[in-house]
Amino acid sequence: MKCRLLNNGRLPPALLARLGEACTLTHLGDQADPAAHLAAHGADYEALVTSAAVGADAALLARLPRLKVISSFGVGLDKIDLAAARARGVAVGYTPDVLNDCVADTAWGLLIDVARGFSAADRFVRRGEWAQGPYRLGRKVSGARLGIVGMGRIGRAIVQRSTGFEMPVRYHTRTPVAGLPWPHEPSLIELARWADFLVLITAGGAGTRHLVNAAVLDALGPQGYLINVARGSVVDEAALVCALSEQRIAGAGLDVFENEPHVPPALLALDNVVLLPHVASATVQTRQAMADRVFDNLQSFMTQGRLLSAAPL
Ligand code: NAP
Ligand code: 8YV
Repeated sequence: MKCRLLNNGRLPPALLARLGEACTLTHLGDQADPAAHLAAHGADYEALVTSAAVGADAALLARLPRLKVISSFGVGLDKIDLAAARARGVAVGYTPDVLNDCVADTAWGLLIDVARGFSAADRFVRRGEWAQGPYRLGRKVSGARLGIVGMGRIGRAIVQRSTGFEMPVRYHTRTPVAGLPWPHEPSLIELARWADFLVLITAGGAGTRHLVNAAVLDALGPQGYLINVARGSVVDEAALVCALSEQRIAGAGLDVFENEPHVPPALLALDNVVLLPHVASATVQTRQAMADRVFDNLQSFMTQGRLLSAAPL
């Protein structure tokens, strides 16, 4: 494929090497003055490669007047201005499905860890406290009530994994999904009231900002656990910190935060929360599959005019 490609994302080096062999590739972050570079050369680029965490806002798109395609590393679209892309006729490729397994596995890892206190127990052993007495009892996972917020590709992969744990499941979305055996709960507050574990796997962005607020956390209650593998923006983080500090919920497992990589300092001192640095898709196998999809999306668009995985615009 031939194309003049701009990279503004954080992408695996092997993917960048492959893109650099196939295209004329420029890294925006390597430019001494990125704004001046865009002003002078923005019209040269027909393709942009980015990552879900960085995306492409309206200001960047405006500086790339000949852009035809964006190929993004990740499934989340919250950092890409889809309306601006649609208005400009810019196609947007992303990496759905190939990361479902690892993100679902991570949700379960967080759920079991926070319920049983495994990460905290590890710290207890390392501090040499075992000799002074046994570690505290955890919360049984098998048989507990599982509430899922978001029932898309990854939500379904999370629920599929619950069968071995024999957990009753209910879910909340704006629109019930036809053909699913699990009850749809139209009220998020009611789902939180019912659930022992509330797992968040909705899309991010303005439509879900602070969906989980103090009222939802209070409905989850002192025996309930929150797991977030969606986006930090889905939770009112200040309200979550209060609820955890005051033990108004039992615990939380968090892969994502409102202002990454900043984690609220109050959480660092709490043993009822498990903190991960946004690693849900971060395995060798899944990141390779995501990288391949980024490349294949671009190649397919440049050679055949269509993306393999096109974002809904
Ligand atoms: P998807 O198939 O598009 O599913 C999104 C789900 O969110 C749908 O069920 C949708 O249902 C629901 N939803 C959207 N807005 C909602 C609202 N206001 N209230 C309730 N539910 C709402 O997406 P996916 O592939 O499963 O991925 C989901 C998200 O996971 C991504 O967008 C990304 O932010 C996140 N993610 C995180 C990581 C990580 O590393 N932690 C990795 C991959 C993905 P309705 O439209 O019917 O409401
Ligand atoms: C990515 C993600 O690893 O796919 C997504 O939306 O959040 C993660 O899988 C990360 O955002 C890469 O930028």
